This record gives sequence, C-alpha cells and structure tokens, in this order.
Amino acid sequence: MDIKEAVKQRHSVRRYIDKPIEGETLKQLSDEIKQCVYESGLGIRLIKDEPKAFGGFIPGYGIFKNVKNYIILSGAKTEDFDEKAGWYGERIVLKATQLGLDTCWVGLTFKKGAVKNYLKDGNKIICVIAVGYGENHGVQHKSKTPDKVCVLKEKPPKWFKEGVNAALLAPTAINQQRFKFYLNGRNVRAVSTGGFYSKVDLGIVKYHFSIGAGEENFNWE
Ligand SMILES: Cc1cc2nc3c(=O)[nH]c(=O)nc-3n(C[C@H](O)[C@H](O)[C@H](O)COP(=O)(O)O)c2cc1C
Repeated sequence: MDIKEAVKQRHSVRRYIDKPIEGETLKQLSDEIKQCVYESGLGIRLIKDEPKAFGGFIPGYGIFKNVKNYIILSGAKTEDFDEKAGWYGERIVLKATQLGLDTCWVGLTFKKGAVKNYLKDGNKIICVIAVGYGENHGVQHKSKTPDKVCVLKEKPPKWFKEGVNAALLAPTAINQQRFKFYLNGRNVRAVSTGGFYSKVDLGIVKYHFSIGAGEENFNWE
C-alpha cells in the first residue's frame, strides 16, 4: 500500500484481536519510530503486551477493547512539541497502516498512571496511539467540505486541492477538523482555529496535506 492509499484507508479502530505484532511488521514499525525519535527529539516508545493502560472501565467517548500495544508520544515541553507530536505521530500511524495494522490516537481515554513509568524524567505525555490488529478497519469519519477549511484569493491549483482533501481525511480530536489552509502562490499557511488538542491536530493535518499536495509543490509559510 503506498502512503496516499494509507491516507484513504486509515480509520480509528478501538477494538482489537489477540494477534501480536511481530516479525518483519514489528521491525519496520520500530525502525520508523526510531527514525522519528532521531528527527524530532521527542520521546516516542512502542509498548507491547501491556493491557493496563486501556484496562477496566474508562469513561469517555471511545470504548476500547483488547488494546495491548500502544505508542507513547512525550517530550520536554517546548513551544512546538505538541504540533511536532502530531506530525511525527501521524507519520508512524500511516506507516502502521501500510503494514496492515490499525491505530487510534488517544488523548484522554487511557490511564495516564499506567503509562508514566515509561517516560524519561522531565518528559510530559502528549498522547498515545493504540496499535494492533483490529476486529475491523473502522469507518470513514464525517467530514467538512473543502470550502469550509480553505481561505483563497485565487483559483487553487490541483496540488492544493489534493493537499486539502488529504487533510480532511486526517484524524482530529473528536473529529473537530478545526483548521484552515491559506494559499498564497506556492506558499501555504495552516492554522488551527482552536479546540482540544488543537496543536496536535495541526501537526497531523499538515502531515496529511504535505502527502496529498507533494512536498515539492509548495512551501510552508
Ligand atoms: C489528538 C487526538 C486525540 C484523540 N483522543 C481520543 C480519545 O481520547 N479517545 C478516543 O476514543 N478517540 C480519540 N481520538 C480519535 C478521534 O476521535 C478520531 O480521530 C476522529 O473521530 C476521526 O475519526 P477517524 O480517526 O476514524 O478518521 C483522538 C484523535 C486525535 C487526533
């Protein structure tokens, strides 16, 4: 599966079967995580066969079942650490999708207490990502239309439209899709319009946009 196909196929999955992540799949996922740690400076760790973070009853909007593997995204608090976590976390999510795994970003509905022992001193948890083999591959979320998230002074080129379409397929907290893309020639500005986890969302949607648009076609402003 190429990465553009992964953008289309990825949906949040909250119910998993008892199939471990192993062999070549585990190696490729771990390699991608290592590379993201190297590039971002964030604390990103895959925790395997650990049912406590999603065990028991957790109040919230998503009901999880049988989550035993998850990726912790953490970092030393800096101005841009949550946007970076969005960008690199989604890079790992799409790699996982390409490897036939299912995922779900989780900001709230997990047990922070079960996870904090895995953090480096001074790092703060940003989010976790549940990962594994789902009971199914999830469903397409309801989406805003492109005109609701674009601010245009000119007729947009094809690459911009494809970027926005990829951004609209991105996961956002409670599916809020609170972002806008501004076009100015080859320059693109993406801004968040607020909400929970809005900076993480912004990193995620910018990563999707860059895949849809093609990095060679534009510059971030
Ligand atoms: C930053 C972030 C935090 C999220 N937190 C939770 C959460 O705490 N619990 C949950 O069940 N889903 C959570 N989600 C998943 C969203 O609800 C989901 O991405 C959104 O409804 C869109 O659906 P899709 O991912 O299937 O496209 C989160 C997503 C993001 C991006």
